[in-house]
Amino acid sequence: MSKTIKINGVDQPIDVDENMPLLWFLRDRLEFTGTKFGCGSGLCGACTVHVDGVATRSCIMPVNALVGKSITTIEGLSKDGNHPLQKAWLENNVPQCGYCQAGQIMNAASFLATNAKPTDDEIDNAMQGNICRCGTYQRIKKAIKSVAF
Ligand code: FES
Repeated sequence: MSKTIKINGVDQPIDVDENMPLLWFLRDRLEFTGTKFGCGSGLCGACTVHVDGVATRSCIMPVNALVGKSITTIEGLSKDGNHPLQKAWLENNVPQCGYCQAGQIMNAASFLATNAKPTDDEIDNAMQGNICRCGTYQRIKKAIKSVAF
């Protein structure tokens, strides 16, 4: 029996090299292309998904390490794209180029699940590892605050 990973609620057989990073399993094998490749080294946050609810960088996580875990991608964050953070992102016109934003939202969602009423400093600390080359940081913070307060 093949090993599986639960992704967005569905058990997916690991039918690739077990050392394949989750990022490429998601994008190339399952066509969940909302999760983005940025640095490939765990440094930028573009590839952030949830592993058992915790924000995790999928580019450095081999699929074999995730057997029995539950993964959520941006496609699975809500059934209809109406997660409060997704709505807040639109209402606050957060994205510029948009490339990093799925990772930003996934990190913010994981953070808010552990801290529903964060201070500005706590938001800054939680989000500082997610890089945005367009510099949308103030709008990201505003959107997070609009959901949190
Ligand atoms: Fe994974 Fe940059 S692509 S952290």
